Amino acid sequence: MLIKSKRGWEIPESQVADEATFLNRRQLMKGLAAGSILAPMAGFLGSGTRAFGADNAPTADLYPATRNEKFVLDRPITEEKLPLNYVNFYEFGSSKNVAGPAQSLNIQPWQLKFDGMVEKEITIDAHDLIRKMPLEERLYRHRCVEAWSMAVPWTGFPMRALLDFAKPLSSAKYVVMETLADKKTMPGLSAFWYPWPYIEGLTIDEASNDLAFIGTGIYGKPMPKQNGAPIRLVTPWKYGFKSIKSIVRFTFTDERPKSFWEEIQGSEYGFWANVNPEVPHPRWSQATERVLGTDERVPTQIFNGYGEFVADLYKNKKGEKLFM
Ligand code: MTE
Repeated sequence: MLIKSKRGWEIPESQVADEATFLNRRQLMKGLAAGSILAPMAGFLGSGTRAFGADNAPTADLYPATRNEKFVLDRPITEEKLPLNYVNFYEFGSSKNVAGPAQSLNIQPWQLKFDGMVEKEITIDAHDLIRKMPLEERLYRHRCVEAWSMAVPWTGFPMRALLDFAKPLSSAKYVVMETLADKKTMPGLSAFWYPWPYIEGLTIDEASNDLAFIGTGIYGKPMPKQNGAPIRLVTPWKYGFKSIKSIVRFTFTDERPKSFWEEIQGSEYGFWANVNPEVPHPRWSQATERVLGTDERVPTQIFNGYGEFVADLYKNKKGEKLFM
């Protein structure tokens, strides 16, 4: 399906910069002091840092997890209220301001299915799975295809541990992930022109890489609903749209899947989606990024700076469109 209208996160770099500036905390504070123009901003950021948090999730006792010091940042951690309130979650609408609507997501119980090319199909409640997994905290940069970025302490577990649990057959080449699609609780699904459910995929090699992470929490607490509770993918070397939220199904297959955005506009959003400053999006540059919560625009790095972990995955794939 080809959608001609511009989607919320498909905005030119200049406009992206404006949005990030809009979120600058100091400006927000100045604005708050100034009064009326601020009502929309105050609404946007919620009434407090944990306004849309998930402290009462059934696995709350597992947080905070010990930090894995192998993964270091080159910039300060983004202030917590920004990732919690500046959100892309199309199932709840196409604006960034969907943290409120996302609270209708019912995460208890949450059935997860593992199927396709596996030794045996498994259905398990996500919270039971989380209790079986080796939770740790990792500091990762996150680079959205819209040219903004943030640095977040994720809690979760290596995706490799998930593969060990699921036991895919050796003939499986891809893992396909699917988000819940529930019309009763997800108002965004009324946008019938999108190919719901949201689907993403990785090769088994990518999913086995050290960096591939299944997120179950952020900032030392369980994952807020708007950020993809109870479990989501975190692939920091790829554009953010690969990091699928609120997963209900993992299917193992030998066929490359067509992901949600690729299905909508394959000429702009590919399967690989690795970050590369030298390959512009057809409608804007990817050379630099606006760091959320600052006035800074910094150069974007190839593989979002994670080349030492992942570059080898792609050395025999020269003919592929690896960077879109
Ligand atoms: N997953 C689902 N199911 N639906 C979405 O709309 N948006 C993606 C990704 N995962 C999205 C999704 C995009 S474009 C980005 S940048 C990240 O989620 C944003 O994650 P965050 O809101 O936690 O920062």
